[in-house]
This record gives sequence, structure tokens and C-alpha cells, in this order.
Amino acid sequence: MKWQAQAPANIALIKYMGKTEYATNQPANASFSYTLNHLTTRVELELGETSDRWEPLTPKTRLSPAQQARFLNHLNRIKTHFGFNGHFIVRSANNFPAGCGLASSASSFAALTKASVIALAALTQQSIDFAILTTLSRQGSGSSCRSLLDGWVLWDNNGIQPVDLPYPHLSHCVLIVDRKEKSISSSHAHEAVLSSLLFDGRPKRAALRLDQLITALKTSDWRLAYETTWHEFWDMHSLFETASPTFSYLTPQSLTLLRHIQDFWTREGDGPLVTMDAGPNIHLLFRPDQIQLRHQLLGGLPGTIDVFSSGSQ
Ligand code: DP6
Repeated sequence: MKWQAQAPANIALIKYMGKTEYATNQPANASFSYTLNHLTTRVELELGETSDRWEPLTPKTRLSPAQQARFLNHLNRIKTHFGFNGHFIVRSANNFPAGCGLASSASSFAALTKASVIALAALTQQSIDFAILTTLSRQGSGSSCRSLLDGWVLWDNNGIQPVDLPYPHLSHCVLIVDRKEKSISSSHAHEAVLSSLLFDGRPKRAALRLDQLITALKTSDWRLAYETTWHEFWDMHSLFETASPTFSYLTPQSLTLLRHIQDFWTREGDGPLVTMDAGPNIHLLFRPDQIQLRHQLLGGLPGTIDVFSSGSQ
């Protein structure tokens, strides 16, 4: 018997950064994301014999021993929830290349949670509701719970919910500054930011920006949405830069590109939403009517930049 599921990646525009509880990944603030439907992880589960183990689903898939252990640990958490003592072979693969500047933990943990719940519900004749599914996924990796819904997604104290807003179909691309896996994981960053003196006001600032961004999108005020997401990723990166010890993901090339995009906005009076995760790469979101403008911006980037593009969604 085999069970399968897939889940998409998502990009946060109001960032989950800092936790109030580590074991269950309780966020210090509400976050807000856009689901990237074209970028998915597929997970397949098959009953195994003596212990759980991970295998690649496609020949090119790689997971480090630490990543495999984290994945199997999450499977174990879900088996415990269902009171199941058997074992699985877990296979997974992404439809986007490793090192393309996209974190795969959100799509991976959402897909693993879905596949495990489908398998265990069938094997133990139990069912769980959506709220439990999202709680389980969050425990694997916080941002993965936002990948369980489509479109604009809010994750706050009440769990996750879809937010009905204009711009349901955006196109996404990543300016790839560095393909290497980051030396400081986002899980570590969540702990490290607490040492920054700026962290005190962070939940309040994130909440204000969340309101501002939702208002901007509701009123189709794209410029305000851009300004809000711009301030928001700088806020998160300022926490990194002012932590003790300080750490940084920004490279000179990231800064050159950000300045270039900012100048483009000033010149054209329009441009993409811009954000950065815990890494040096730059994520852009364009409206469907910005095809020409997107071409213009990407065609005029300084230096030689790899662009990973998921096409229009
Ligand atoms: C910067 O979800 O990767 O991408 O819960 O420890 O697995 P864990 O962290 P993770 O953190 C994501 C941080 C972020 C911002 C975001 O996606 O909201």
C-alpha cells in the first residue's frame, strides 16, 4: 500500500520570526503569506519493516542526514498522535531545483504531514479535523502550516485562514544571489533574534504592518503594499544584524539588487512586491498586468544574475 500527497511552497510577506514556544513552534507574531502553487513537494509513504527510513522519490533528490532525521522525527510525531507503532519508507521530491533560492521546508513538511495523516487515518480508522492537521504541520516547521491553504494566508492565534483579497494570481521569481545552503538555518534565526534589543517591539511592528498590508491589498494600493513588505523584510534583517552575536544573510550583490529595484520603482512609479527570507536571495511578486514591466526590470538587472521563475500563476 502507498499513500501520496503534495503541497506547495509559500512566501511570507509579514514574517514569522521569533517563537514564544519552541517545542510546538508558537510564533511571536502573526504572519501572512502568498502560496506558490507551482512549487511543490511530493511525499509518498509505504509500509516498511523494522524502522522508518527516507528515500529519494526522484534520482536527483538529496536530503542531508540532519534533514532526513528532522523529516523522520516529524513522521514519528504524527505516528504518536495516531498511536501507530508500525514503520514507513518515506520518499520525497521537489518539483523545483535545490539551490534555486527557495526554502523547501514549508512545502516538504506540509506534504509530509498530509501524506502521513492520509496513511495513518486509513491504517488506524481515525479521522482528524483541519485544525489538528495544521497544528501537526506547524510542529514540523512553522511556515509549513501556511502551505495548507491556497492564495493569501494568515497564520495567527486562531490558526490559519485564507484571506480573500484582490490580486489572487501573481507571478513570482527569485533573484538568486547565492545557491549554497545557508549556514544559519531559519530555525536557529528564530532563537538568535531574541538577543536583539530591537526584538522588544517586533510583535507590535509586525501586527501594525499586517493591518497595513491587508488594507493596502484590499484597496488595491499596490505601492503601499510594496512599501509595507519592503519595511517588513528590512525589519527582520535588522533583527539579524543587531543580534548578539550579530549574523547576516545580506551580500553586496543583494544590496546592489535591492537598490536597483528601489530605483526602478522611483523611476517607473510601479514595480513588484519585494521580500527576502532568511537568506541572500530576493523574491519578487508581479501583478498579471505587469508582464512588460517585469521584462523591463529583469532585463535591466546589474551584473549577471540567475533568475528562478515560476511563471505566472
Ligand atoms: C524567514 O518555518 O523555517 O522564512 O518553524 O523553525 O521550521 P521553523 O522555521 P521556519 O521559519 C520561516 C522563517 C521565514 C519567514 C516566514 O516564512 O514566515
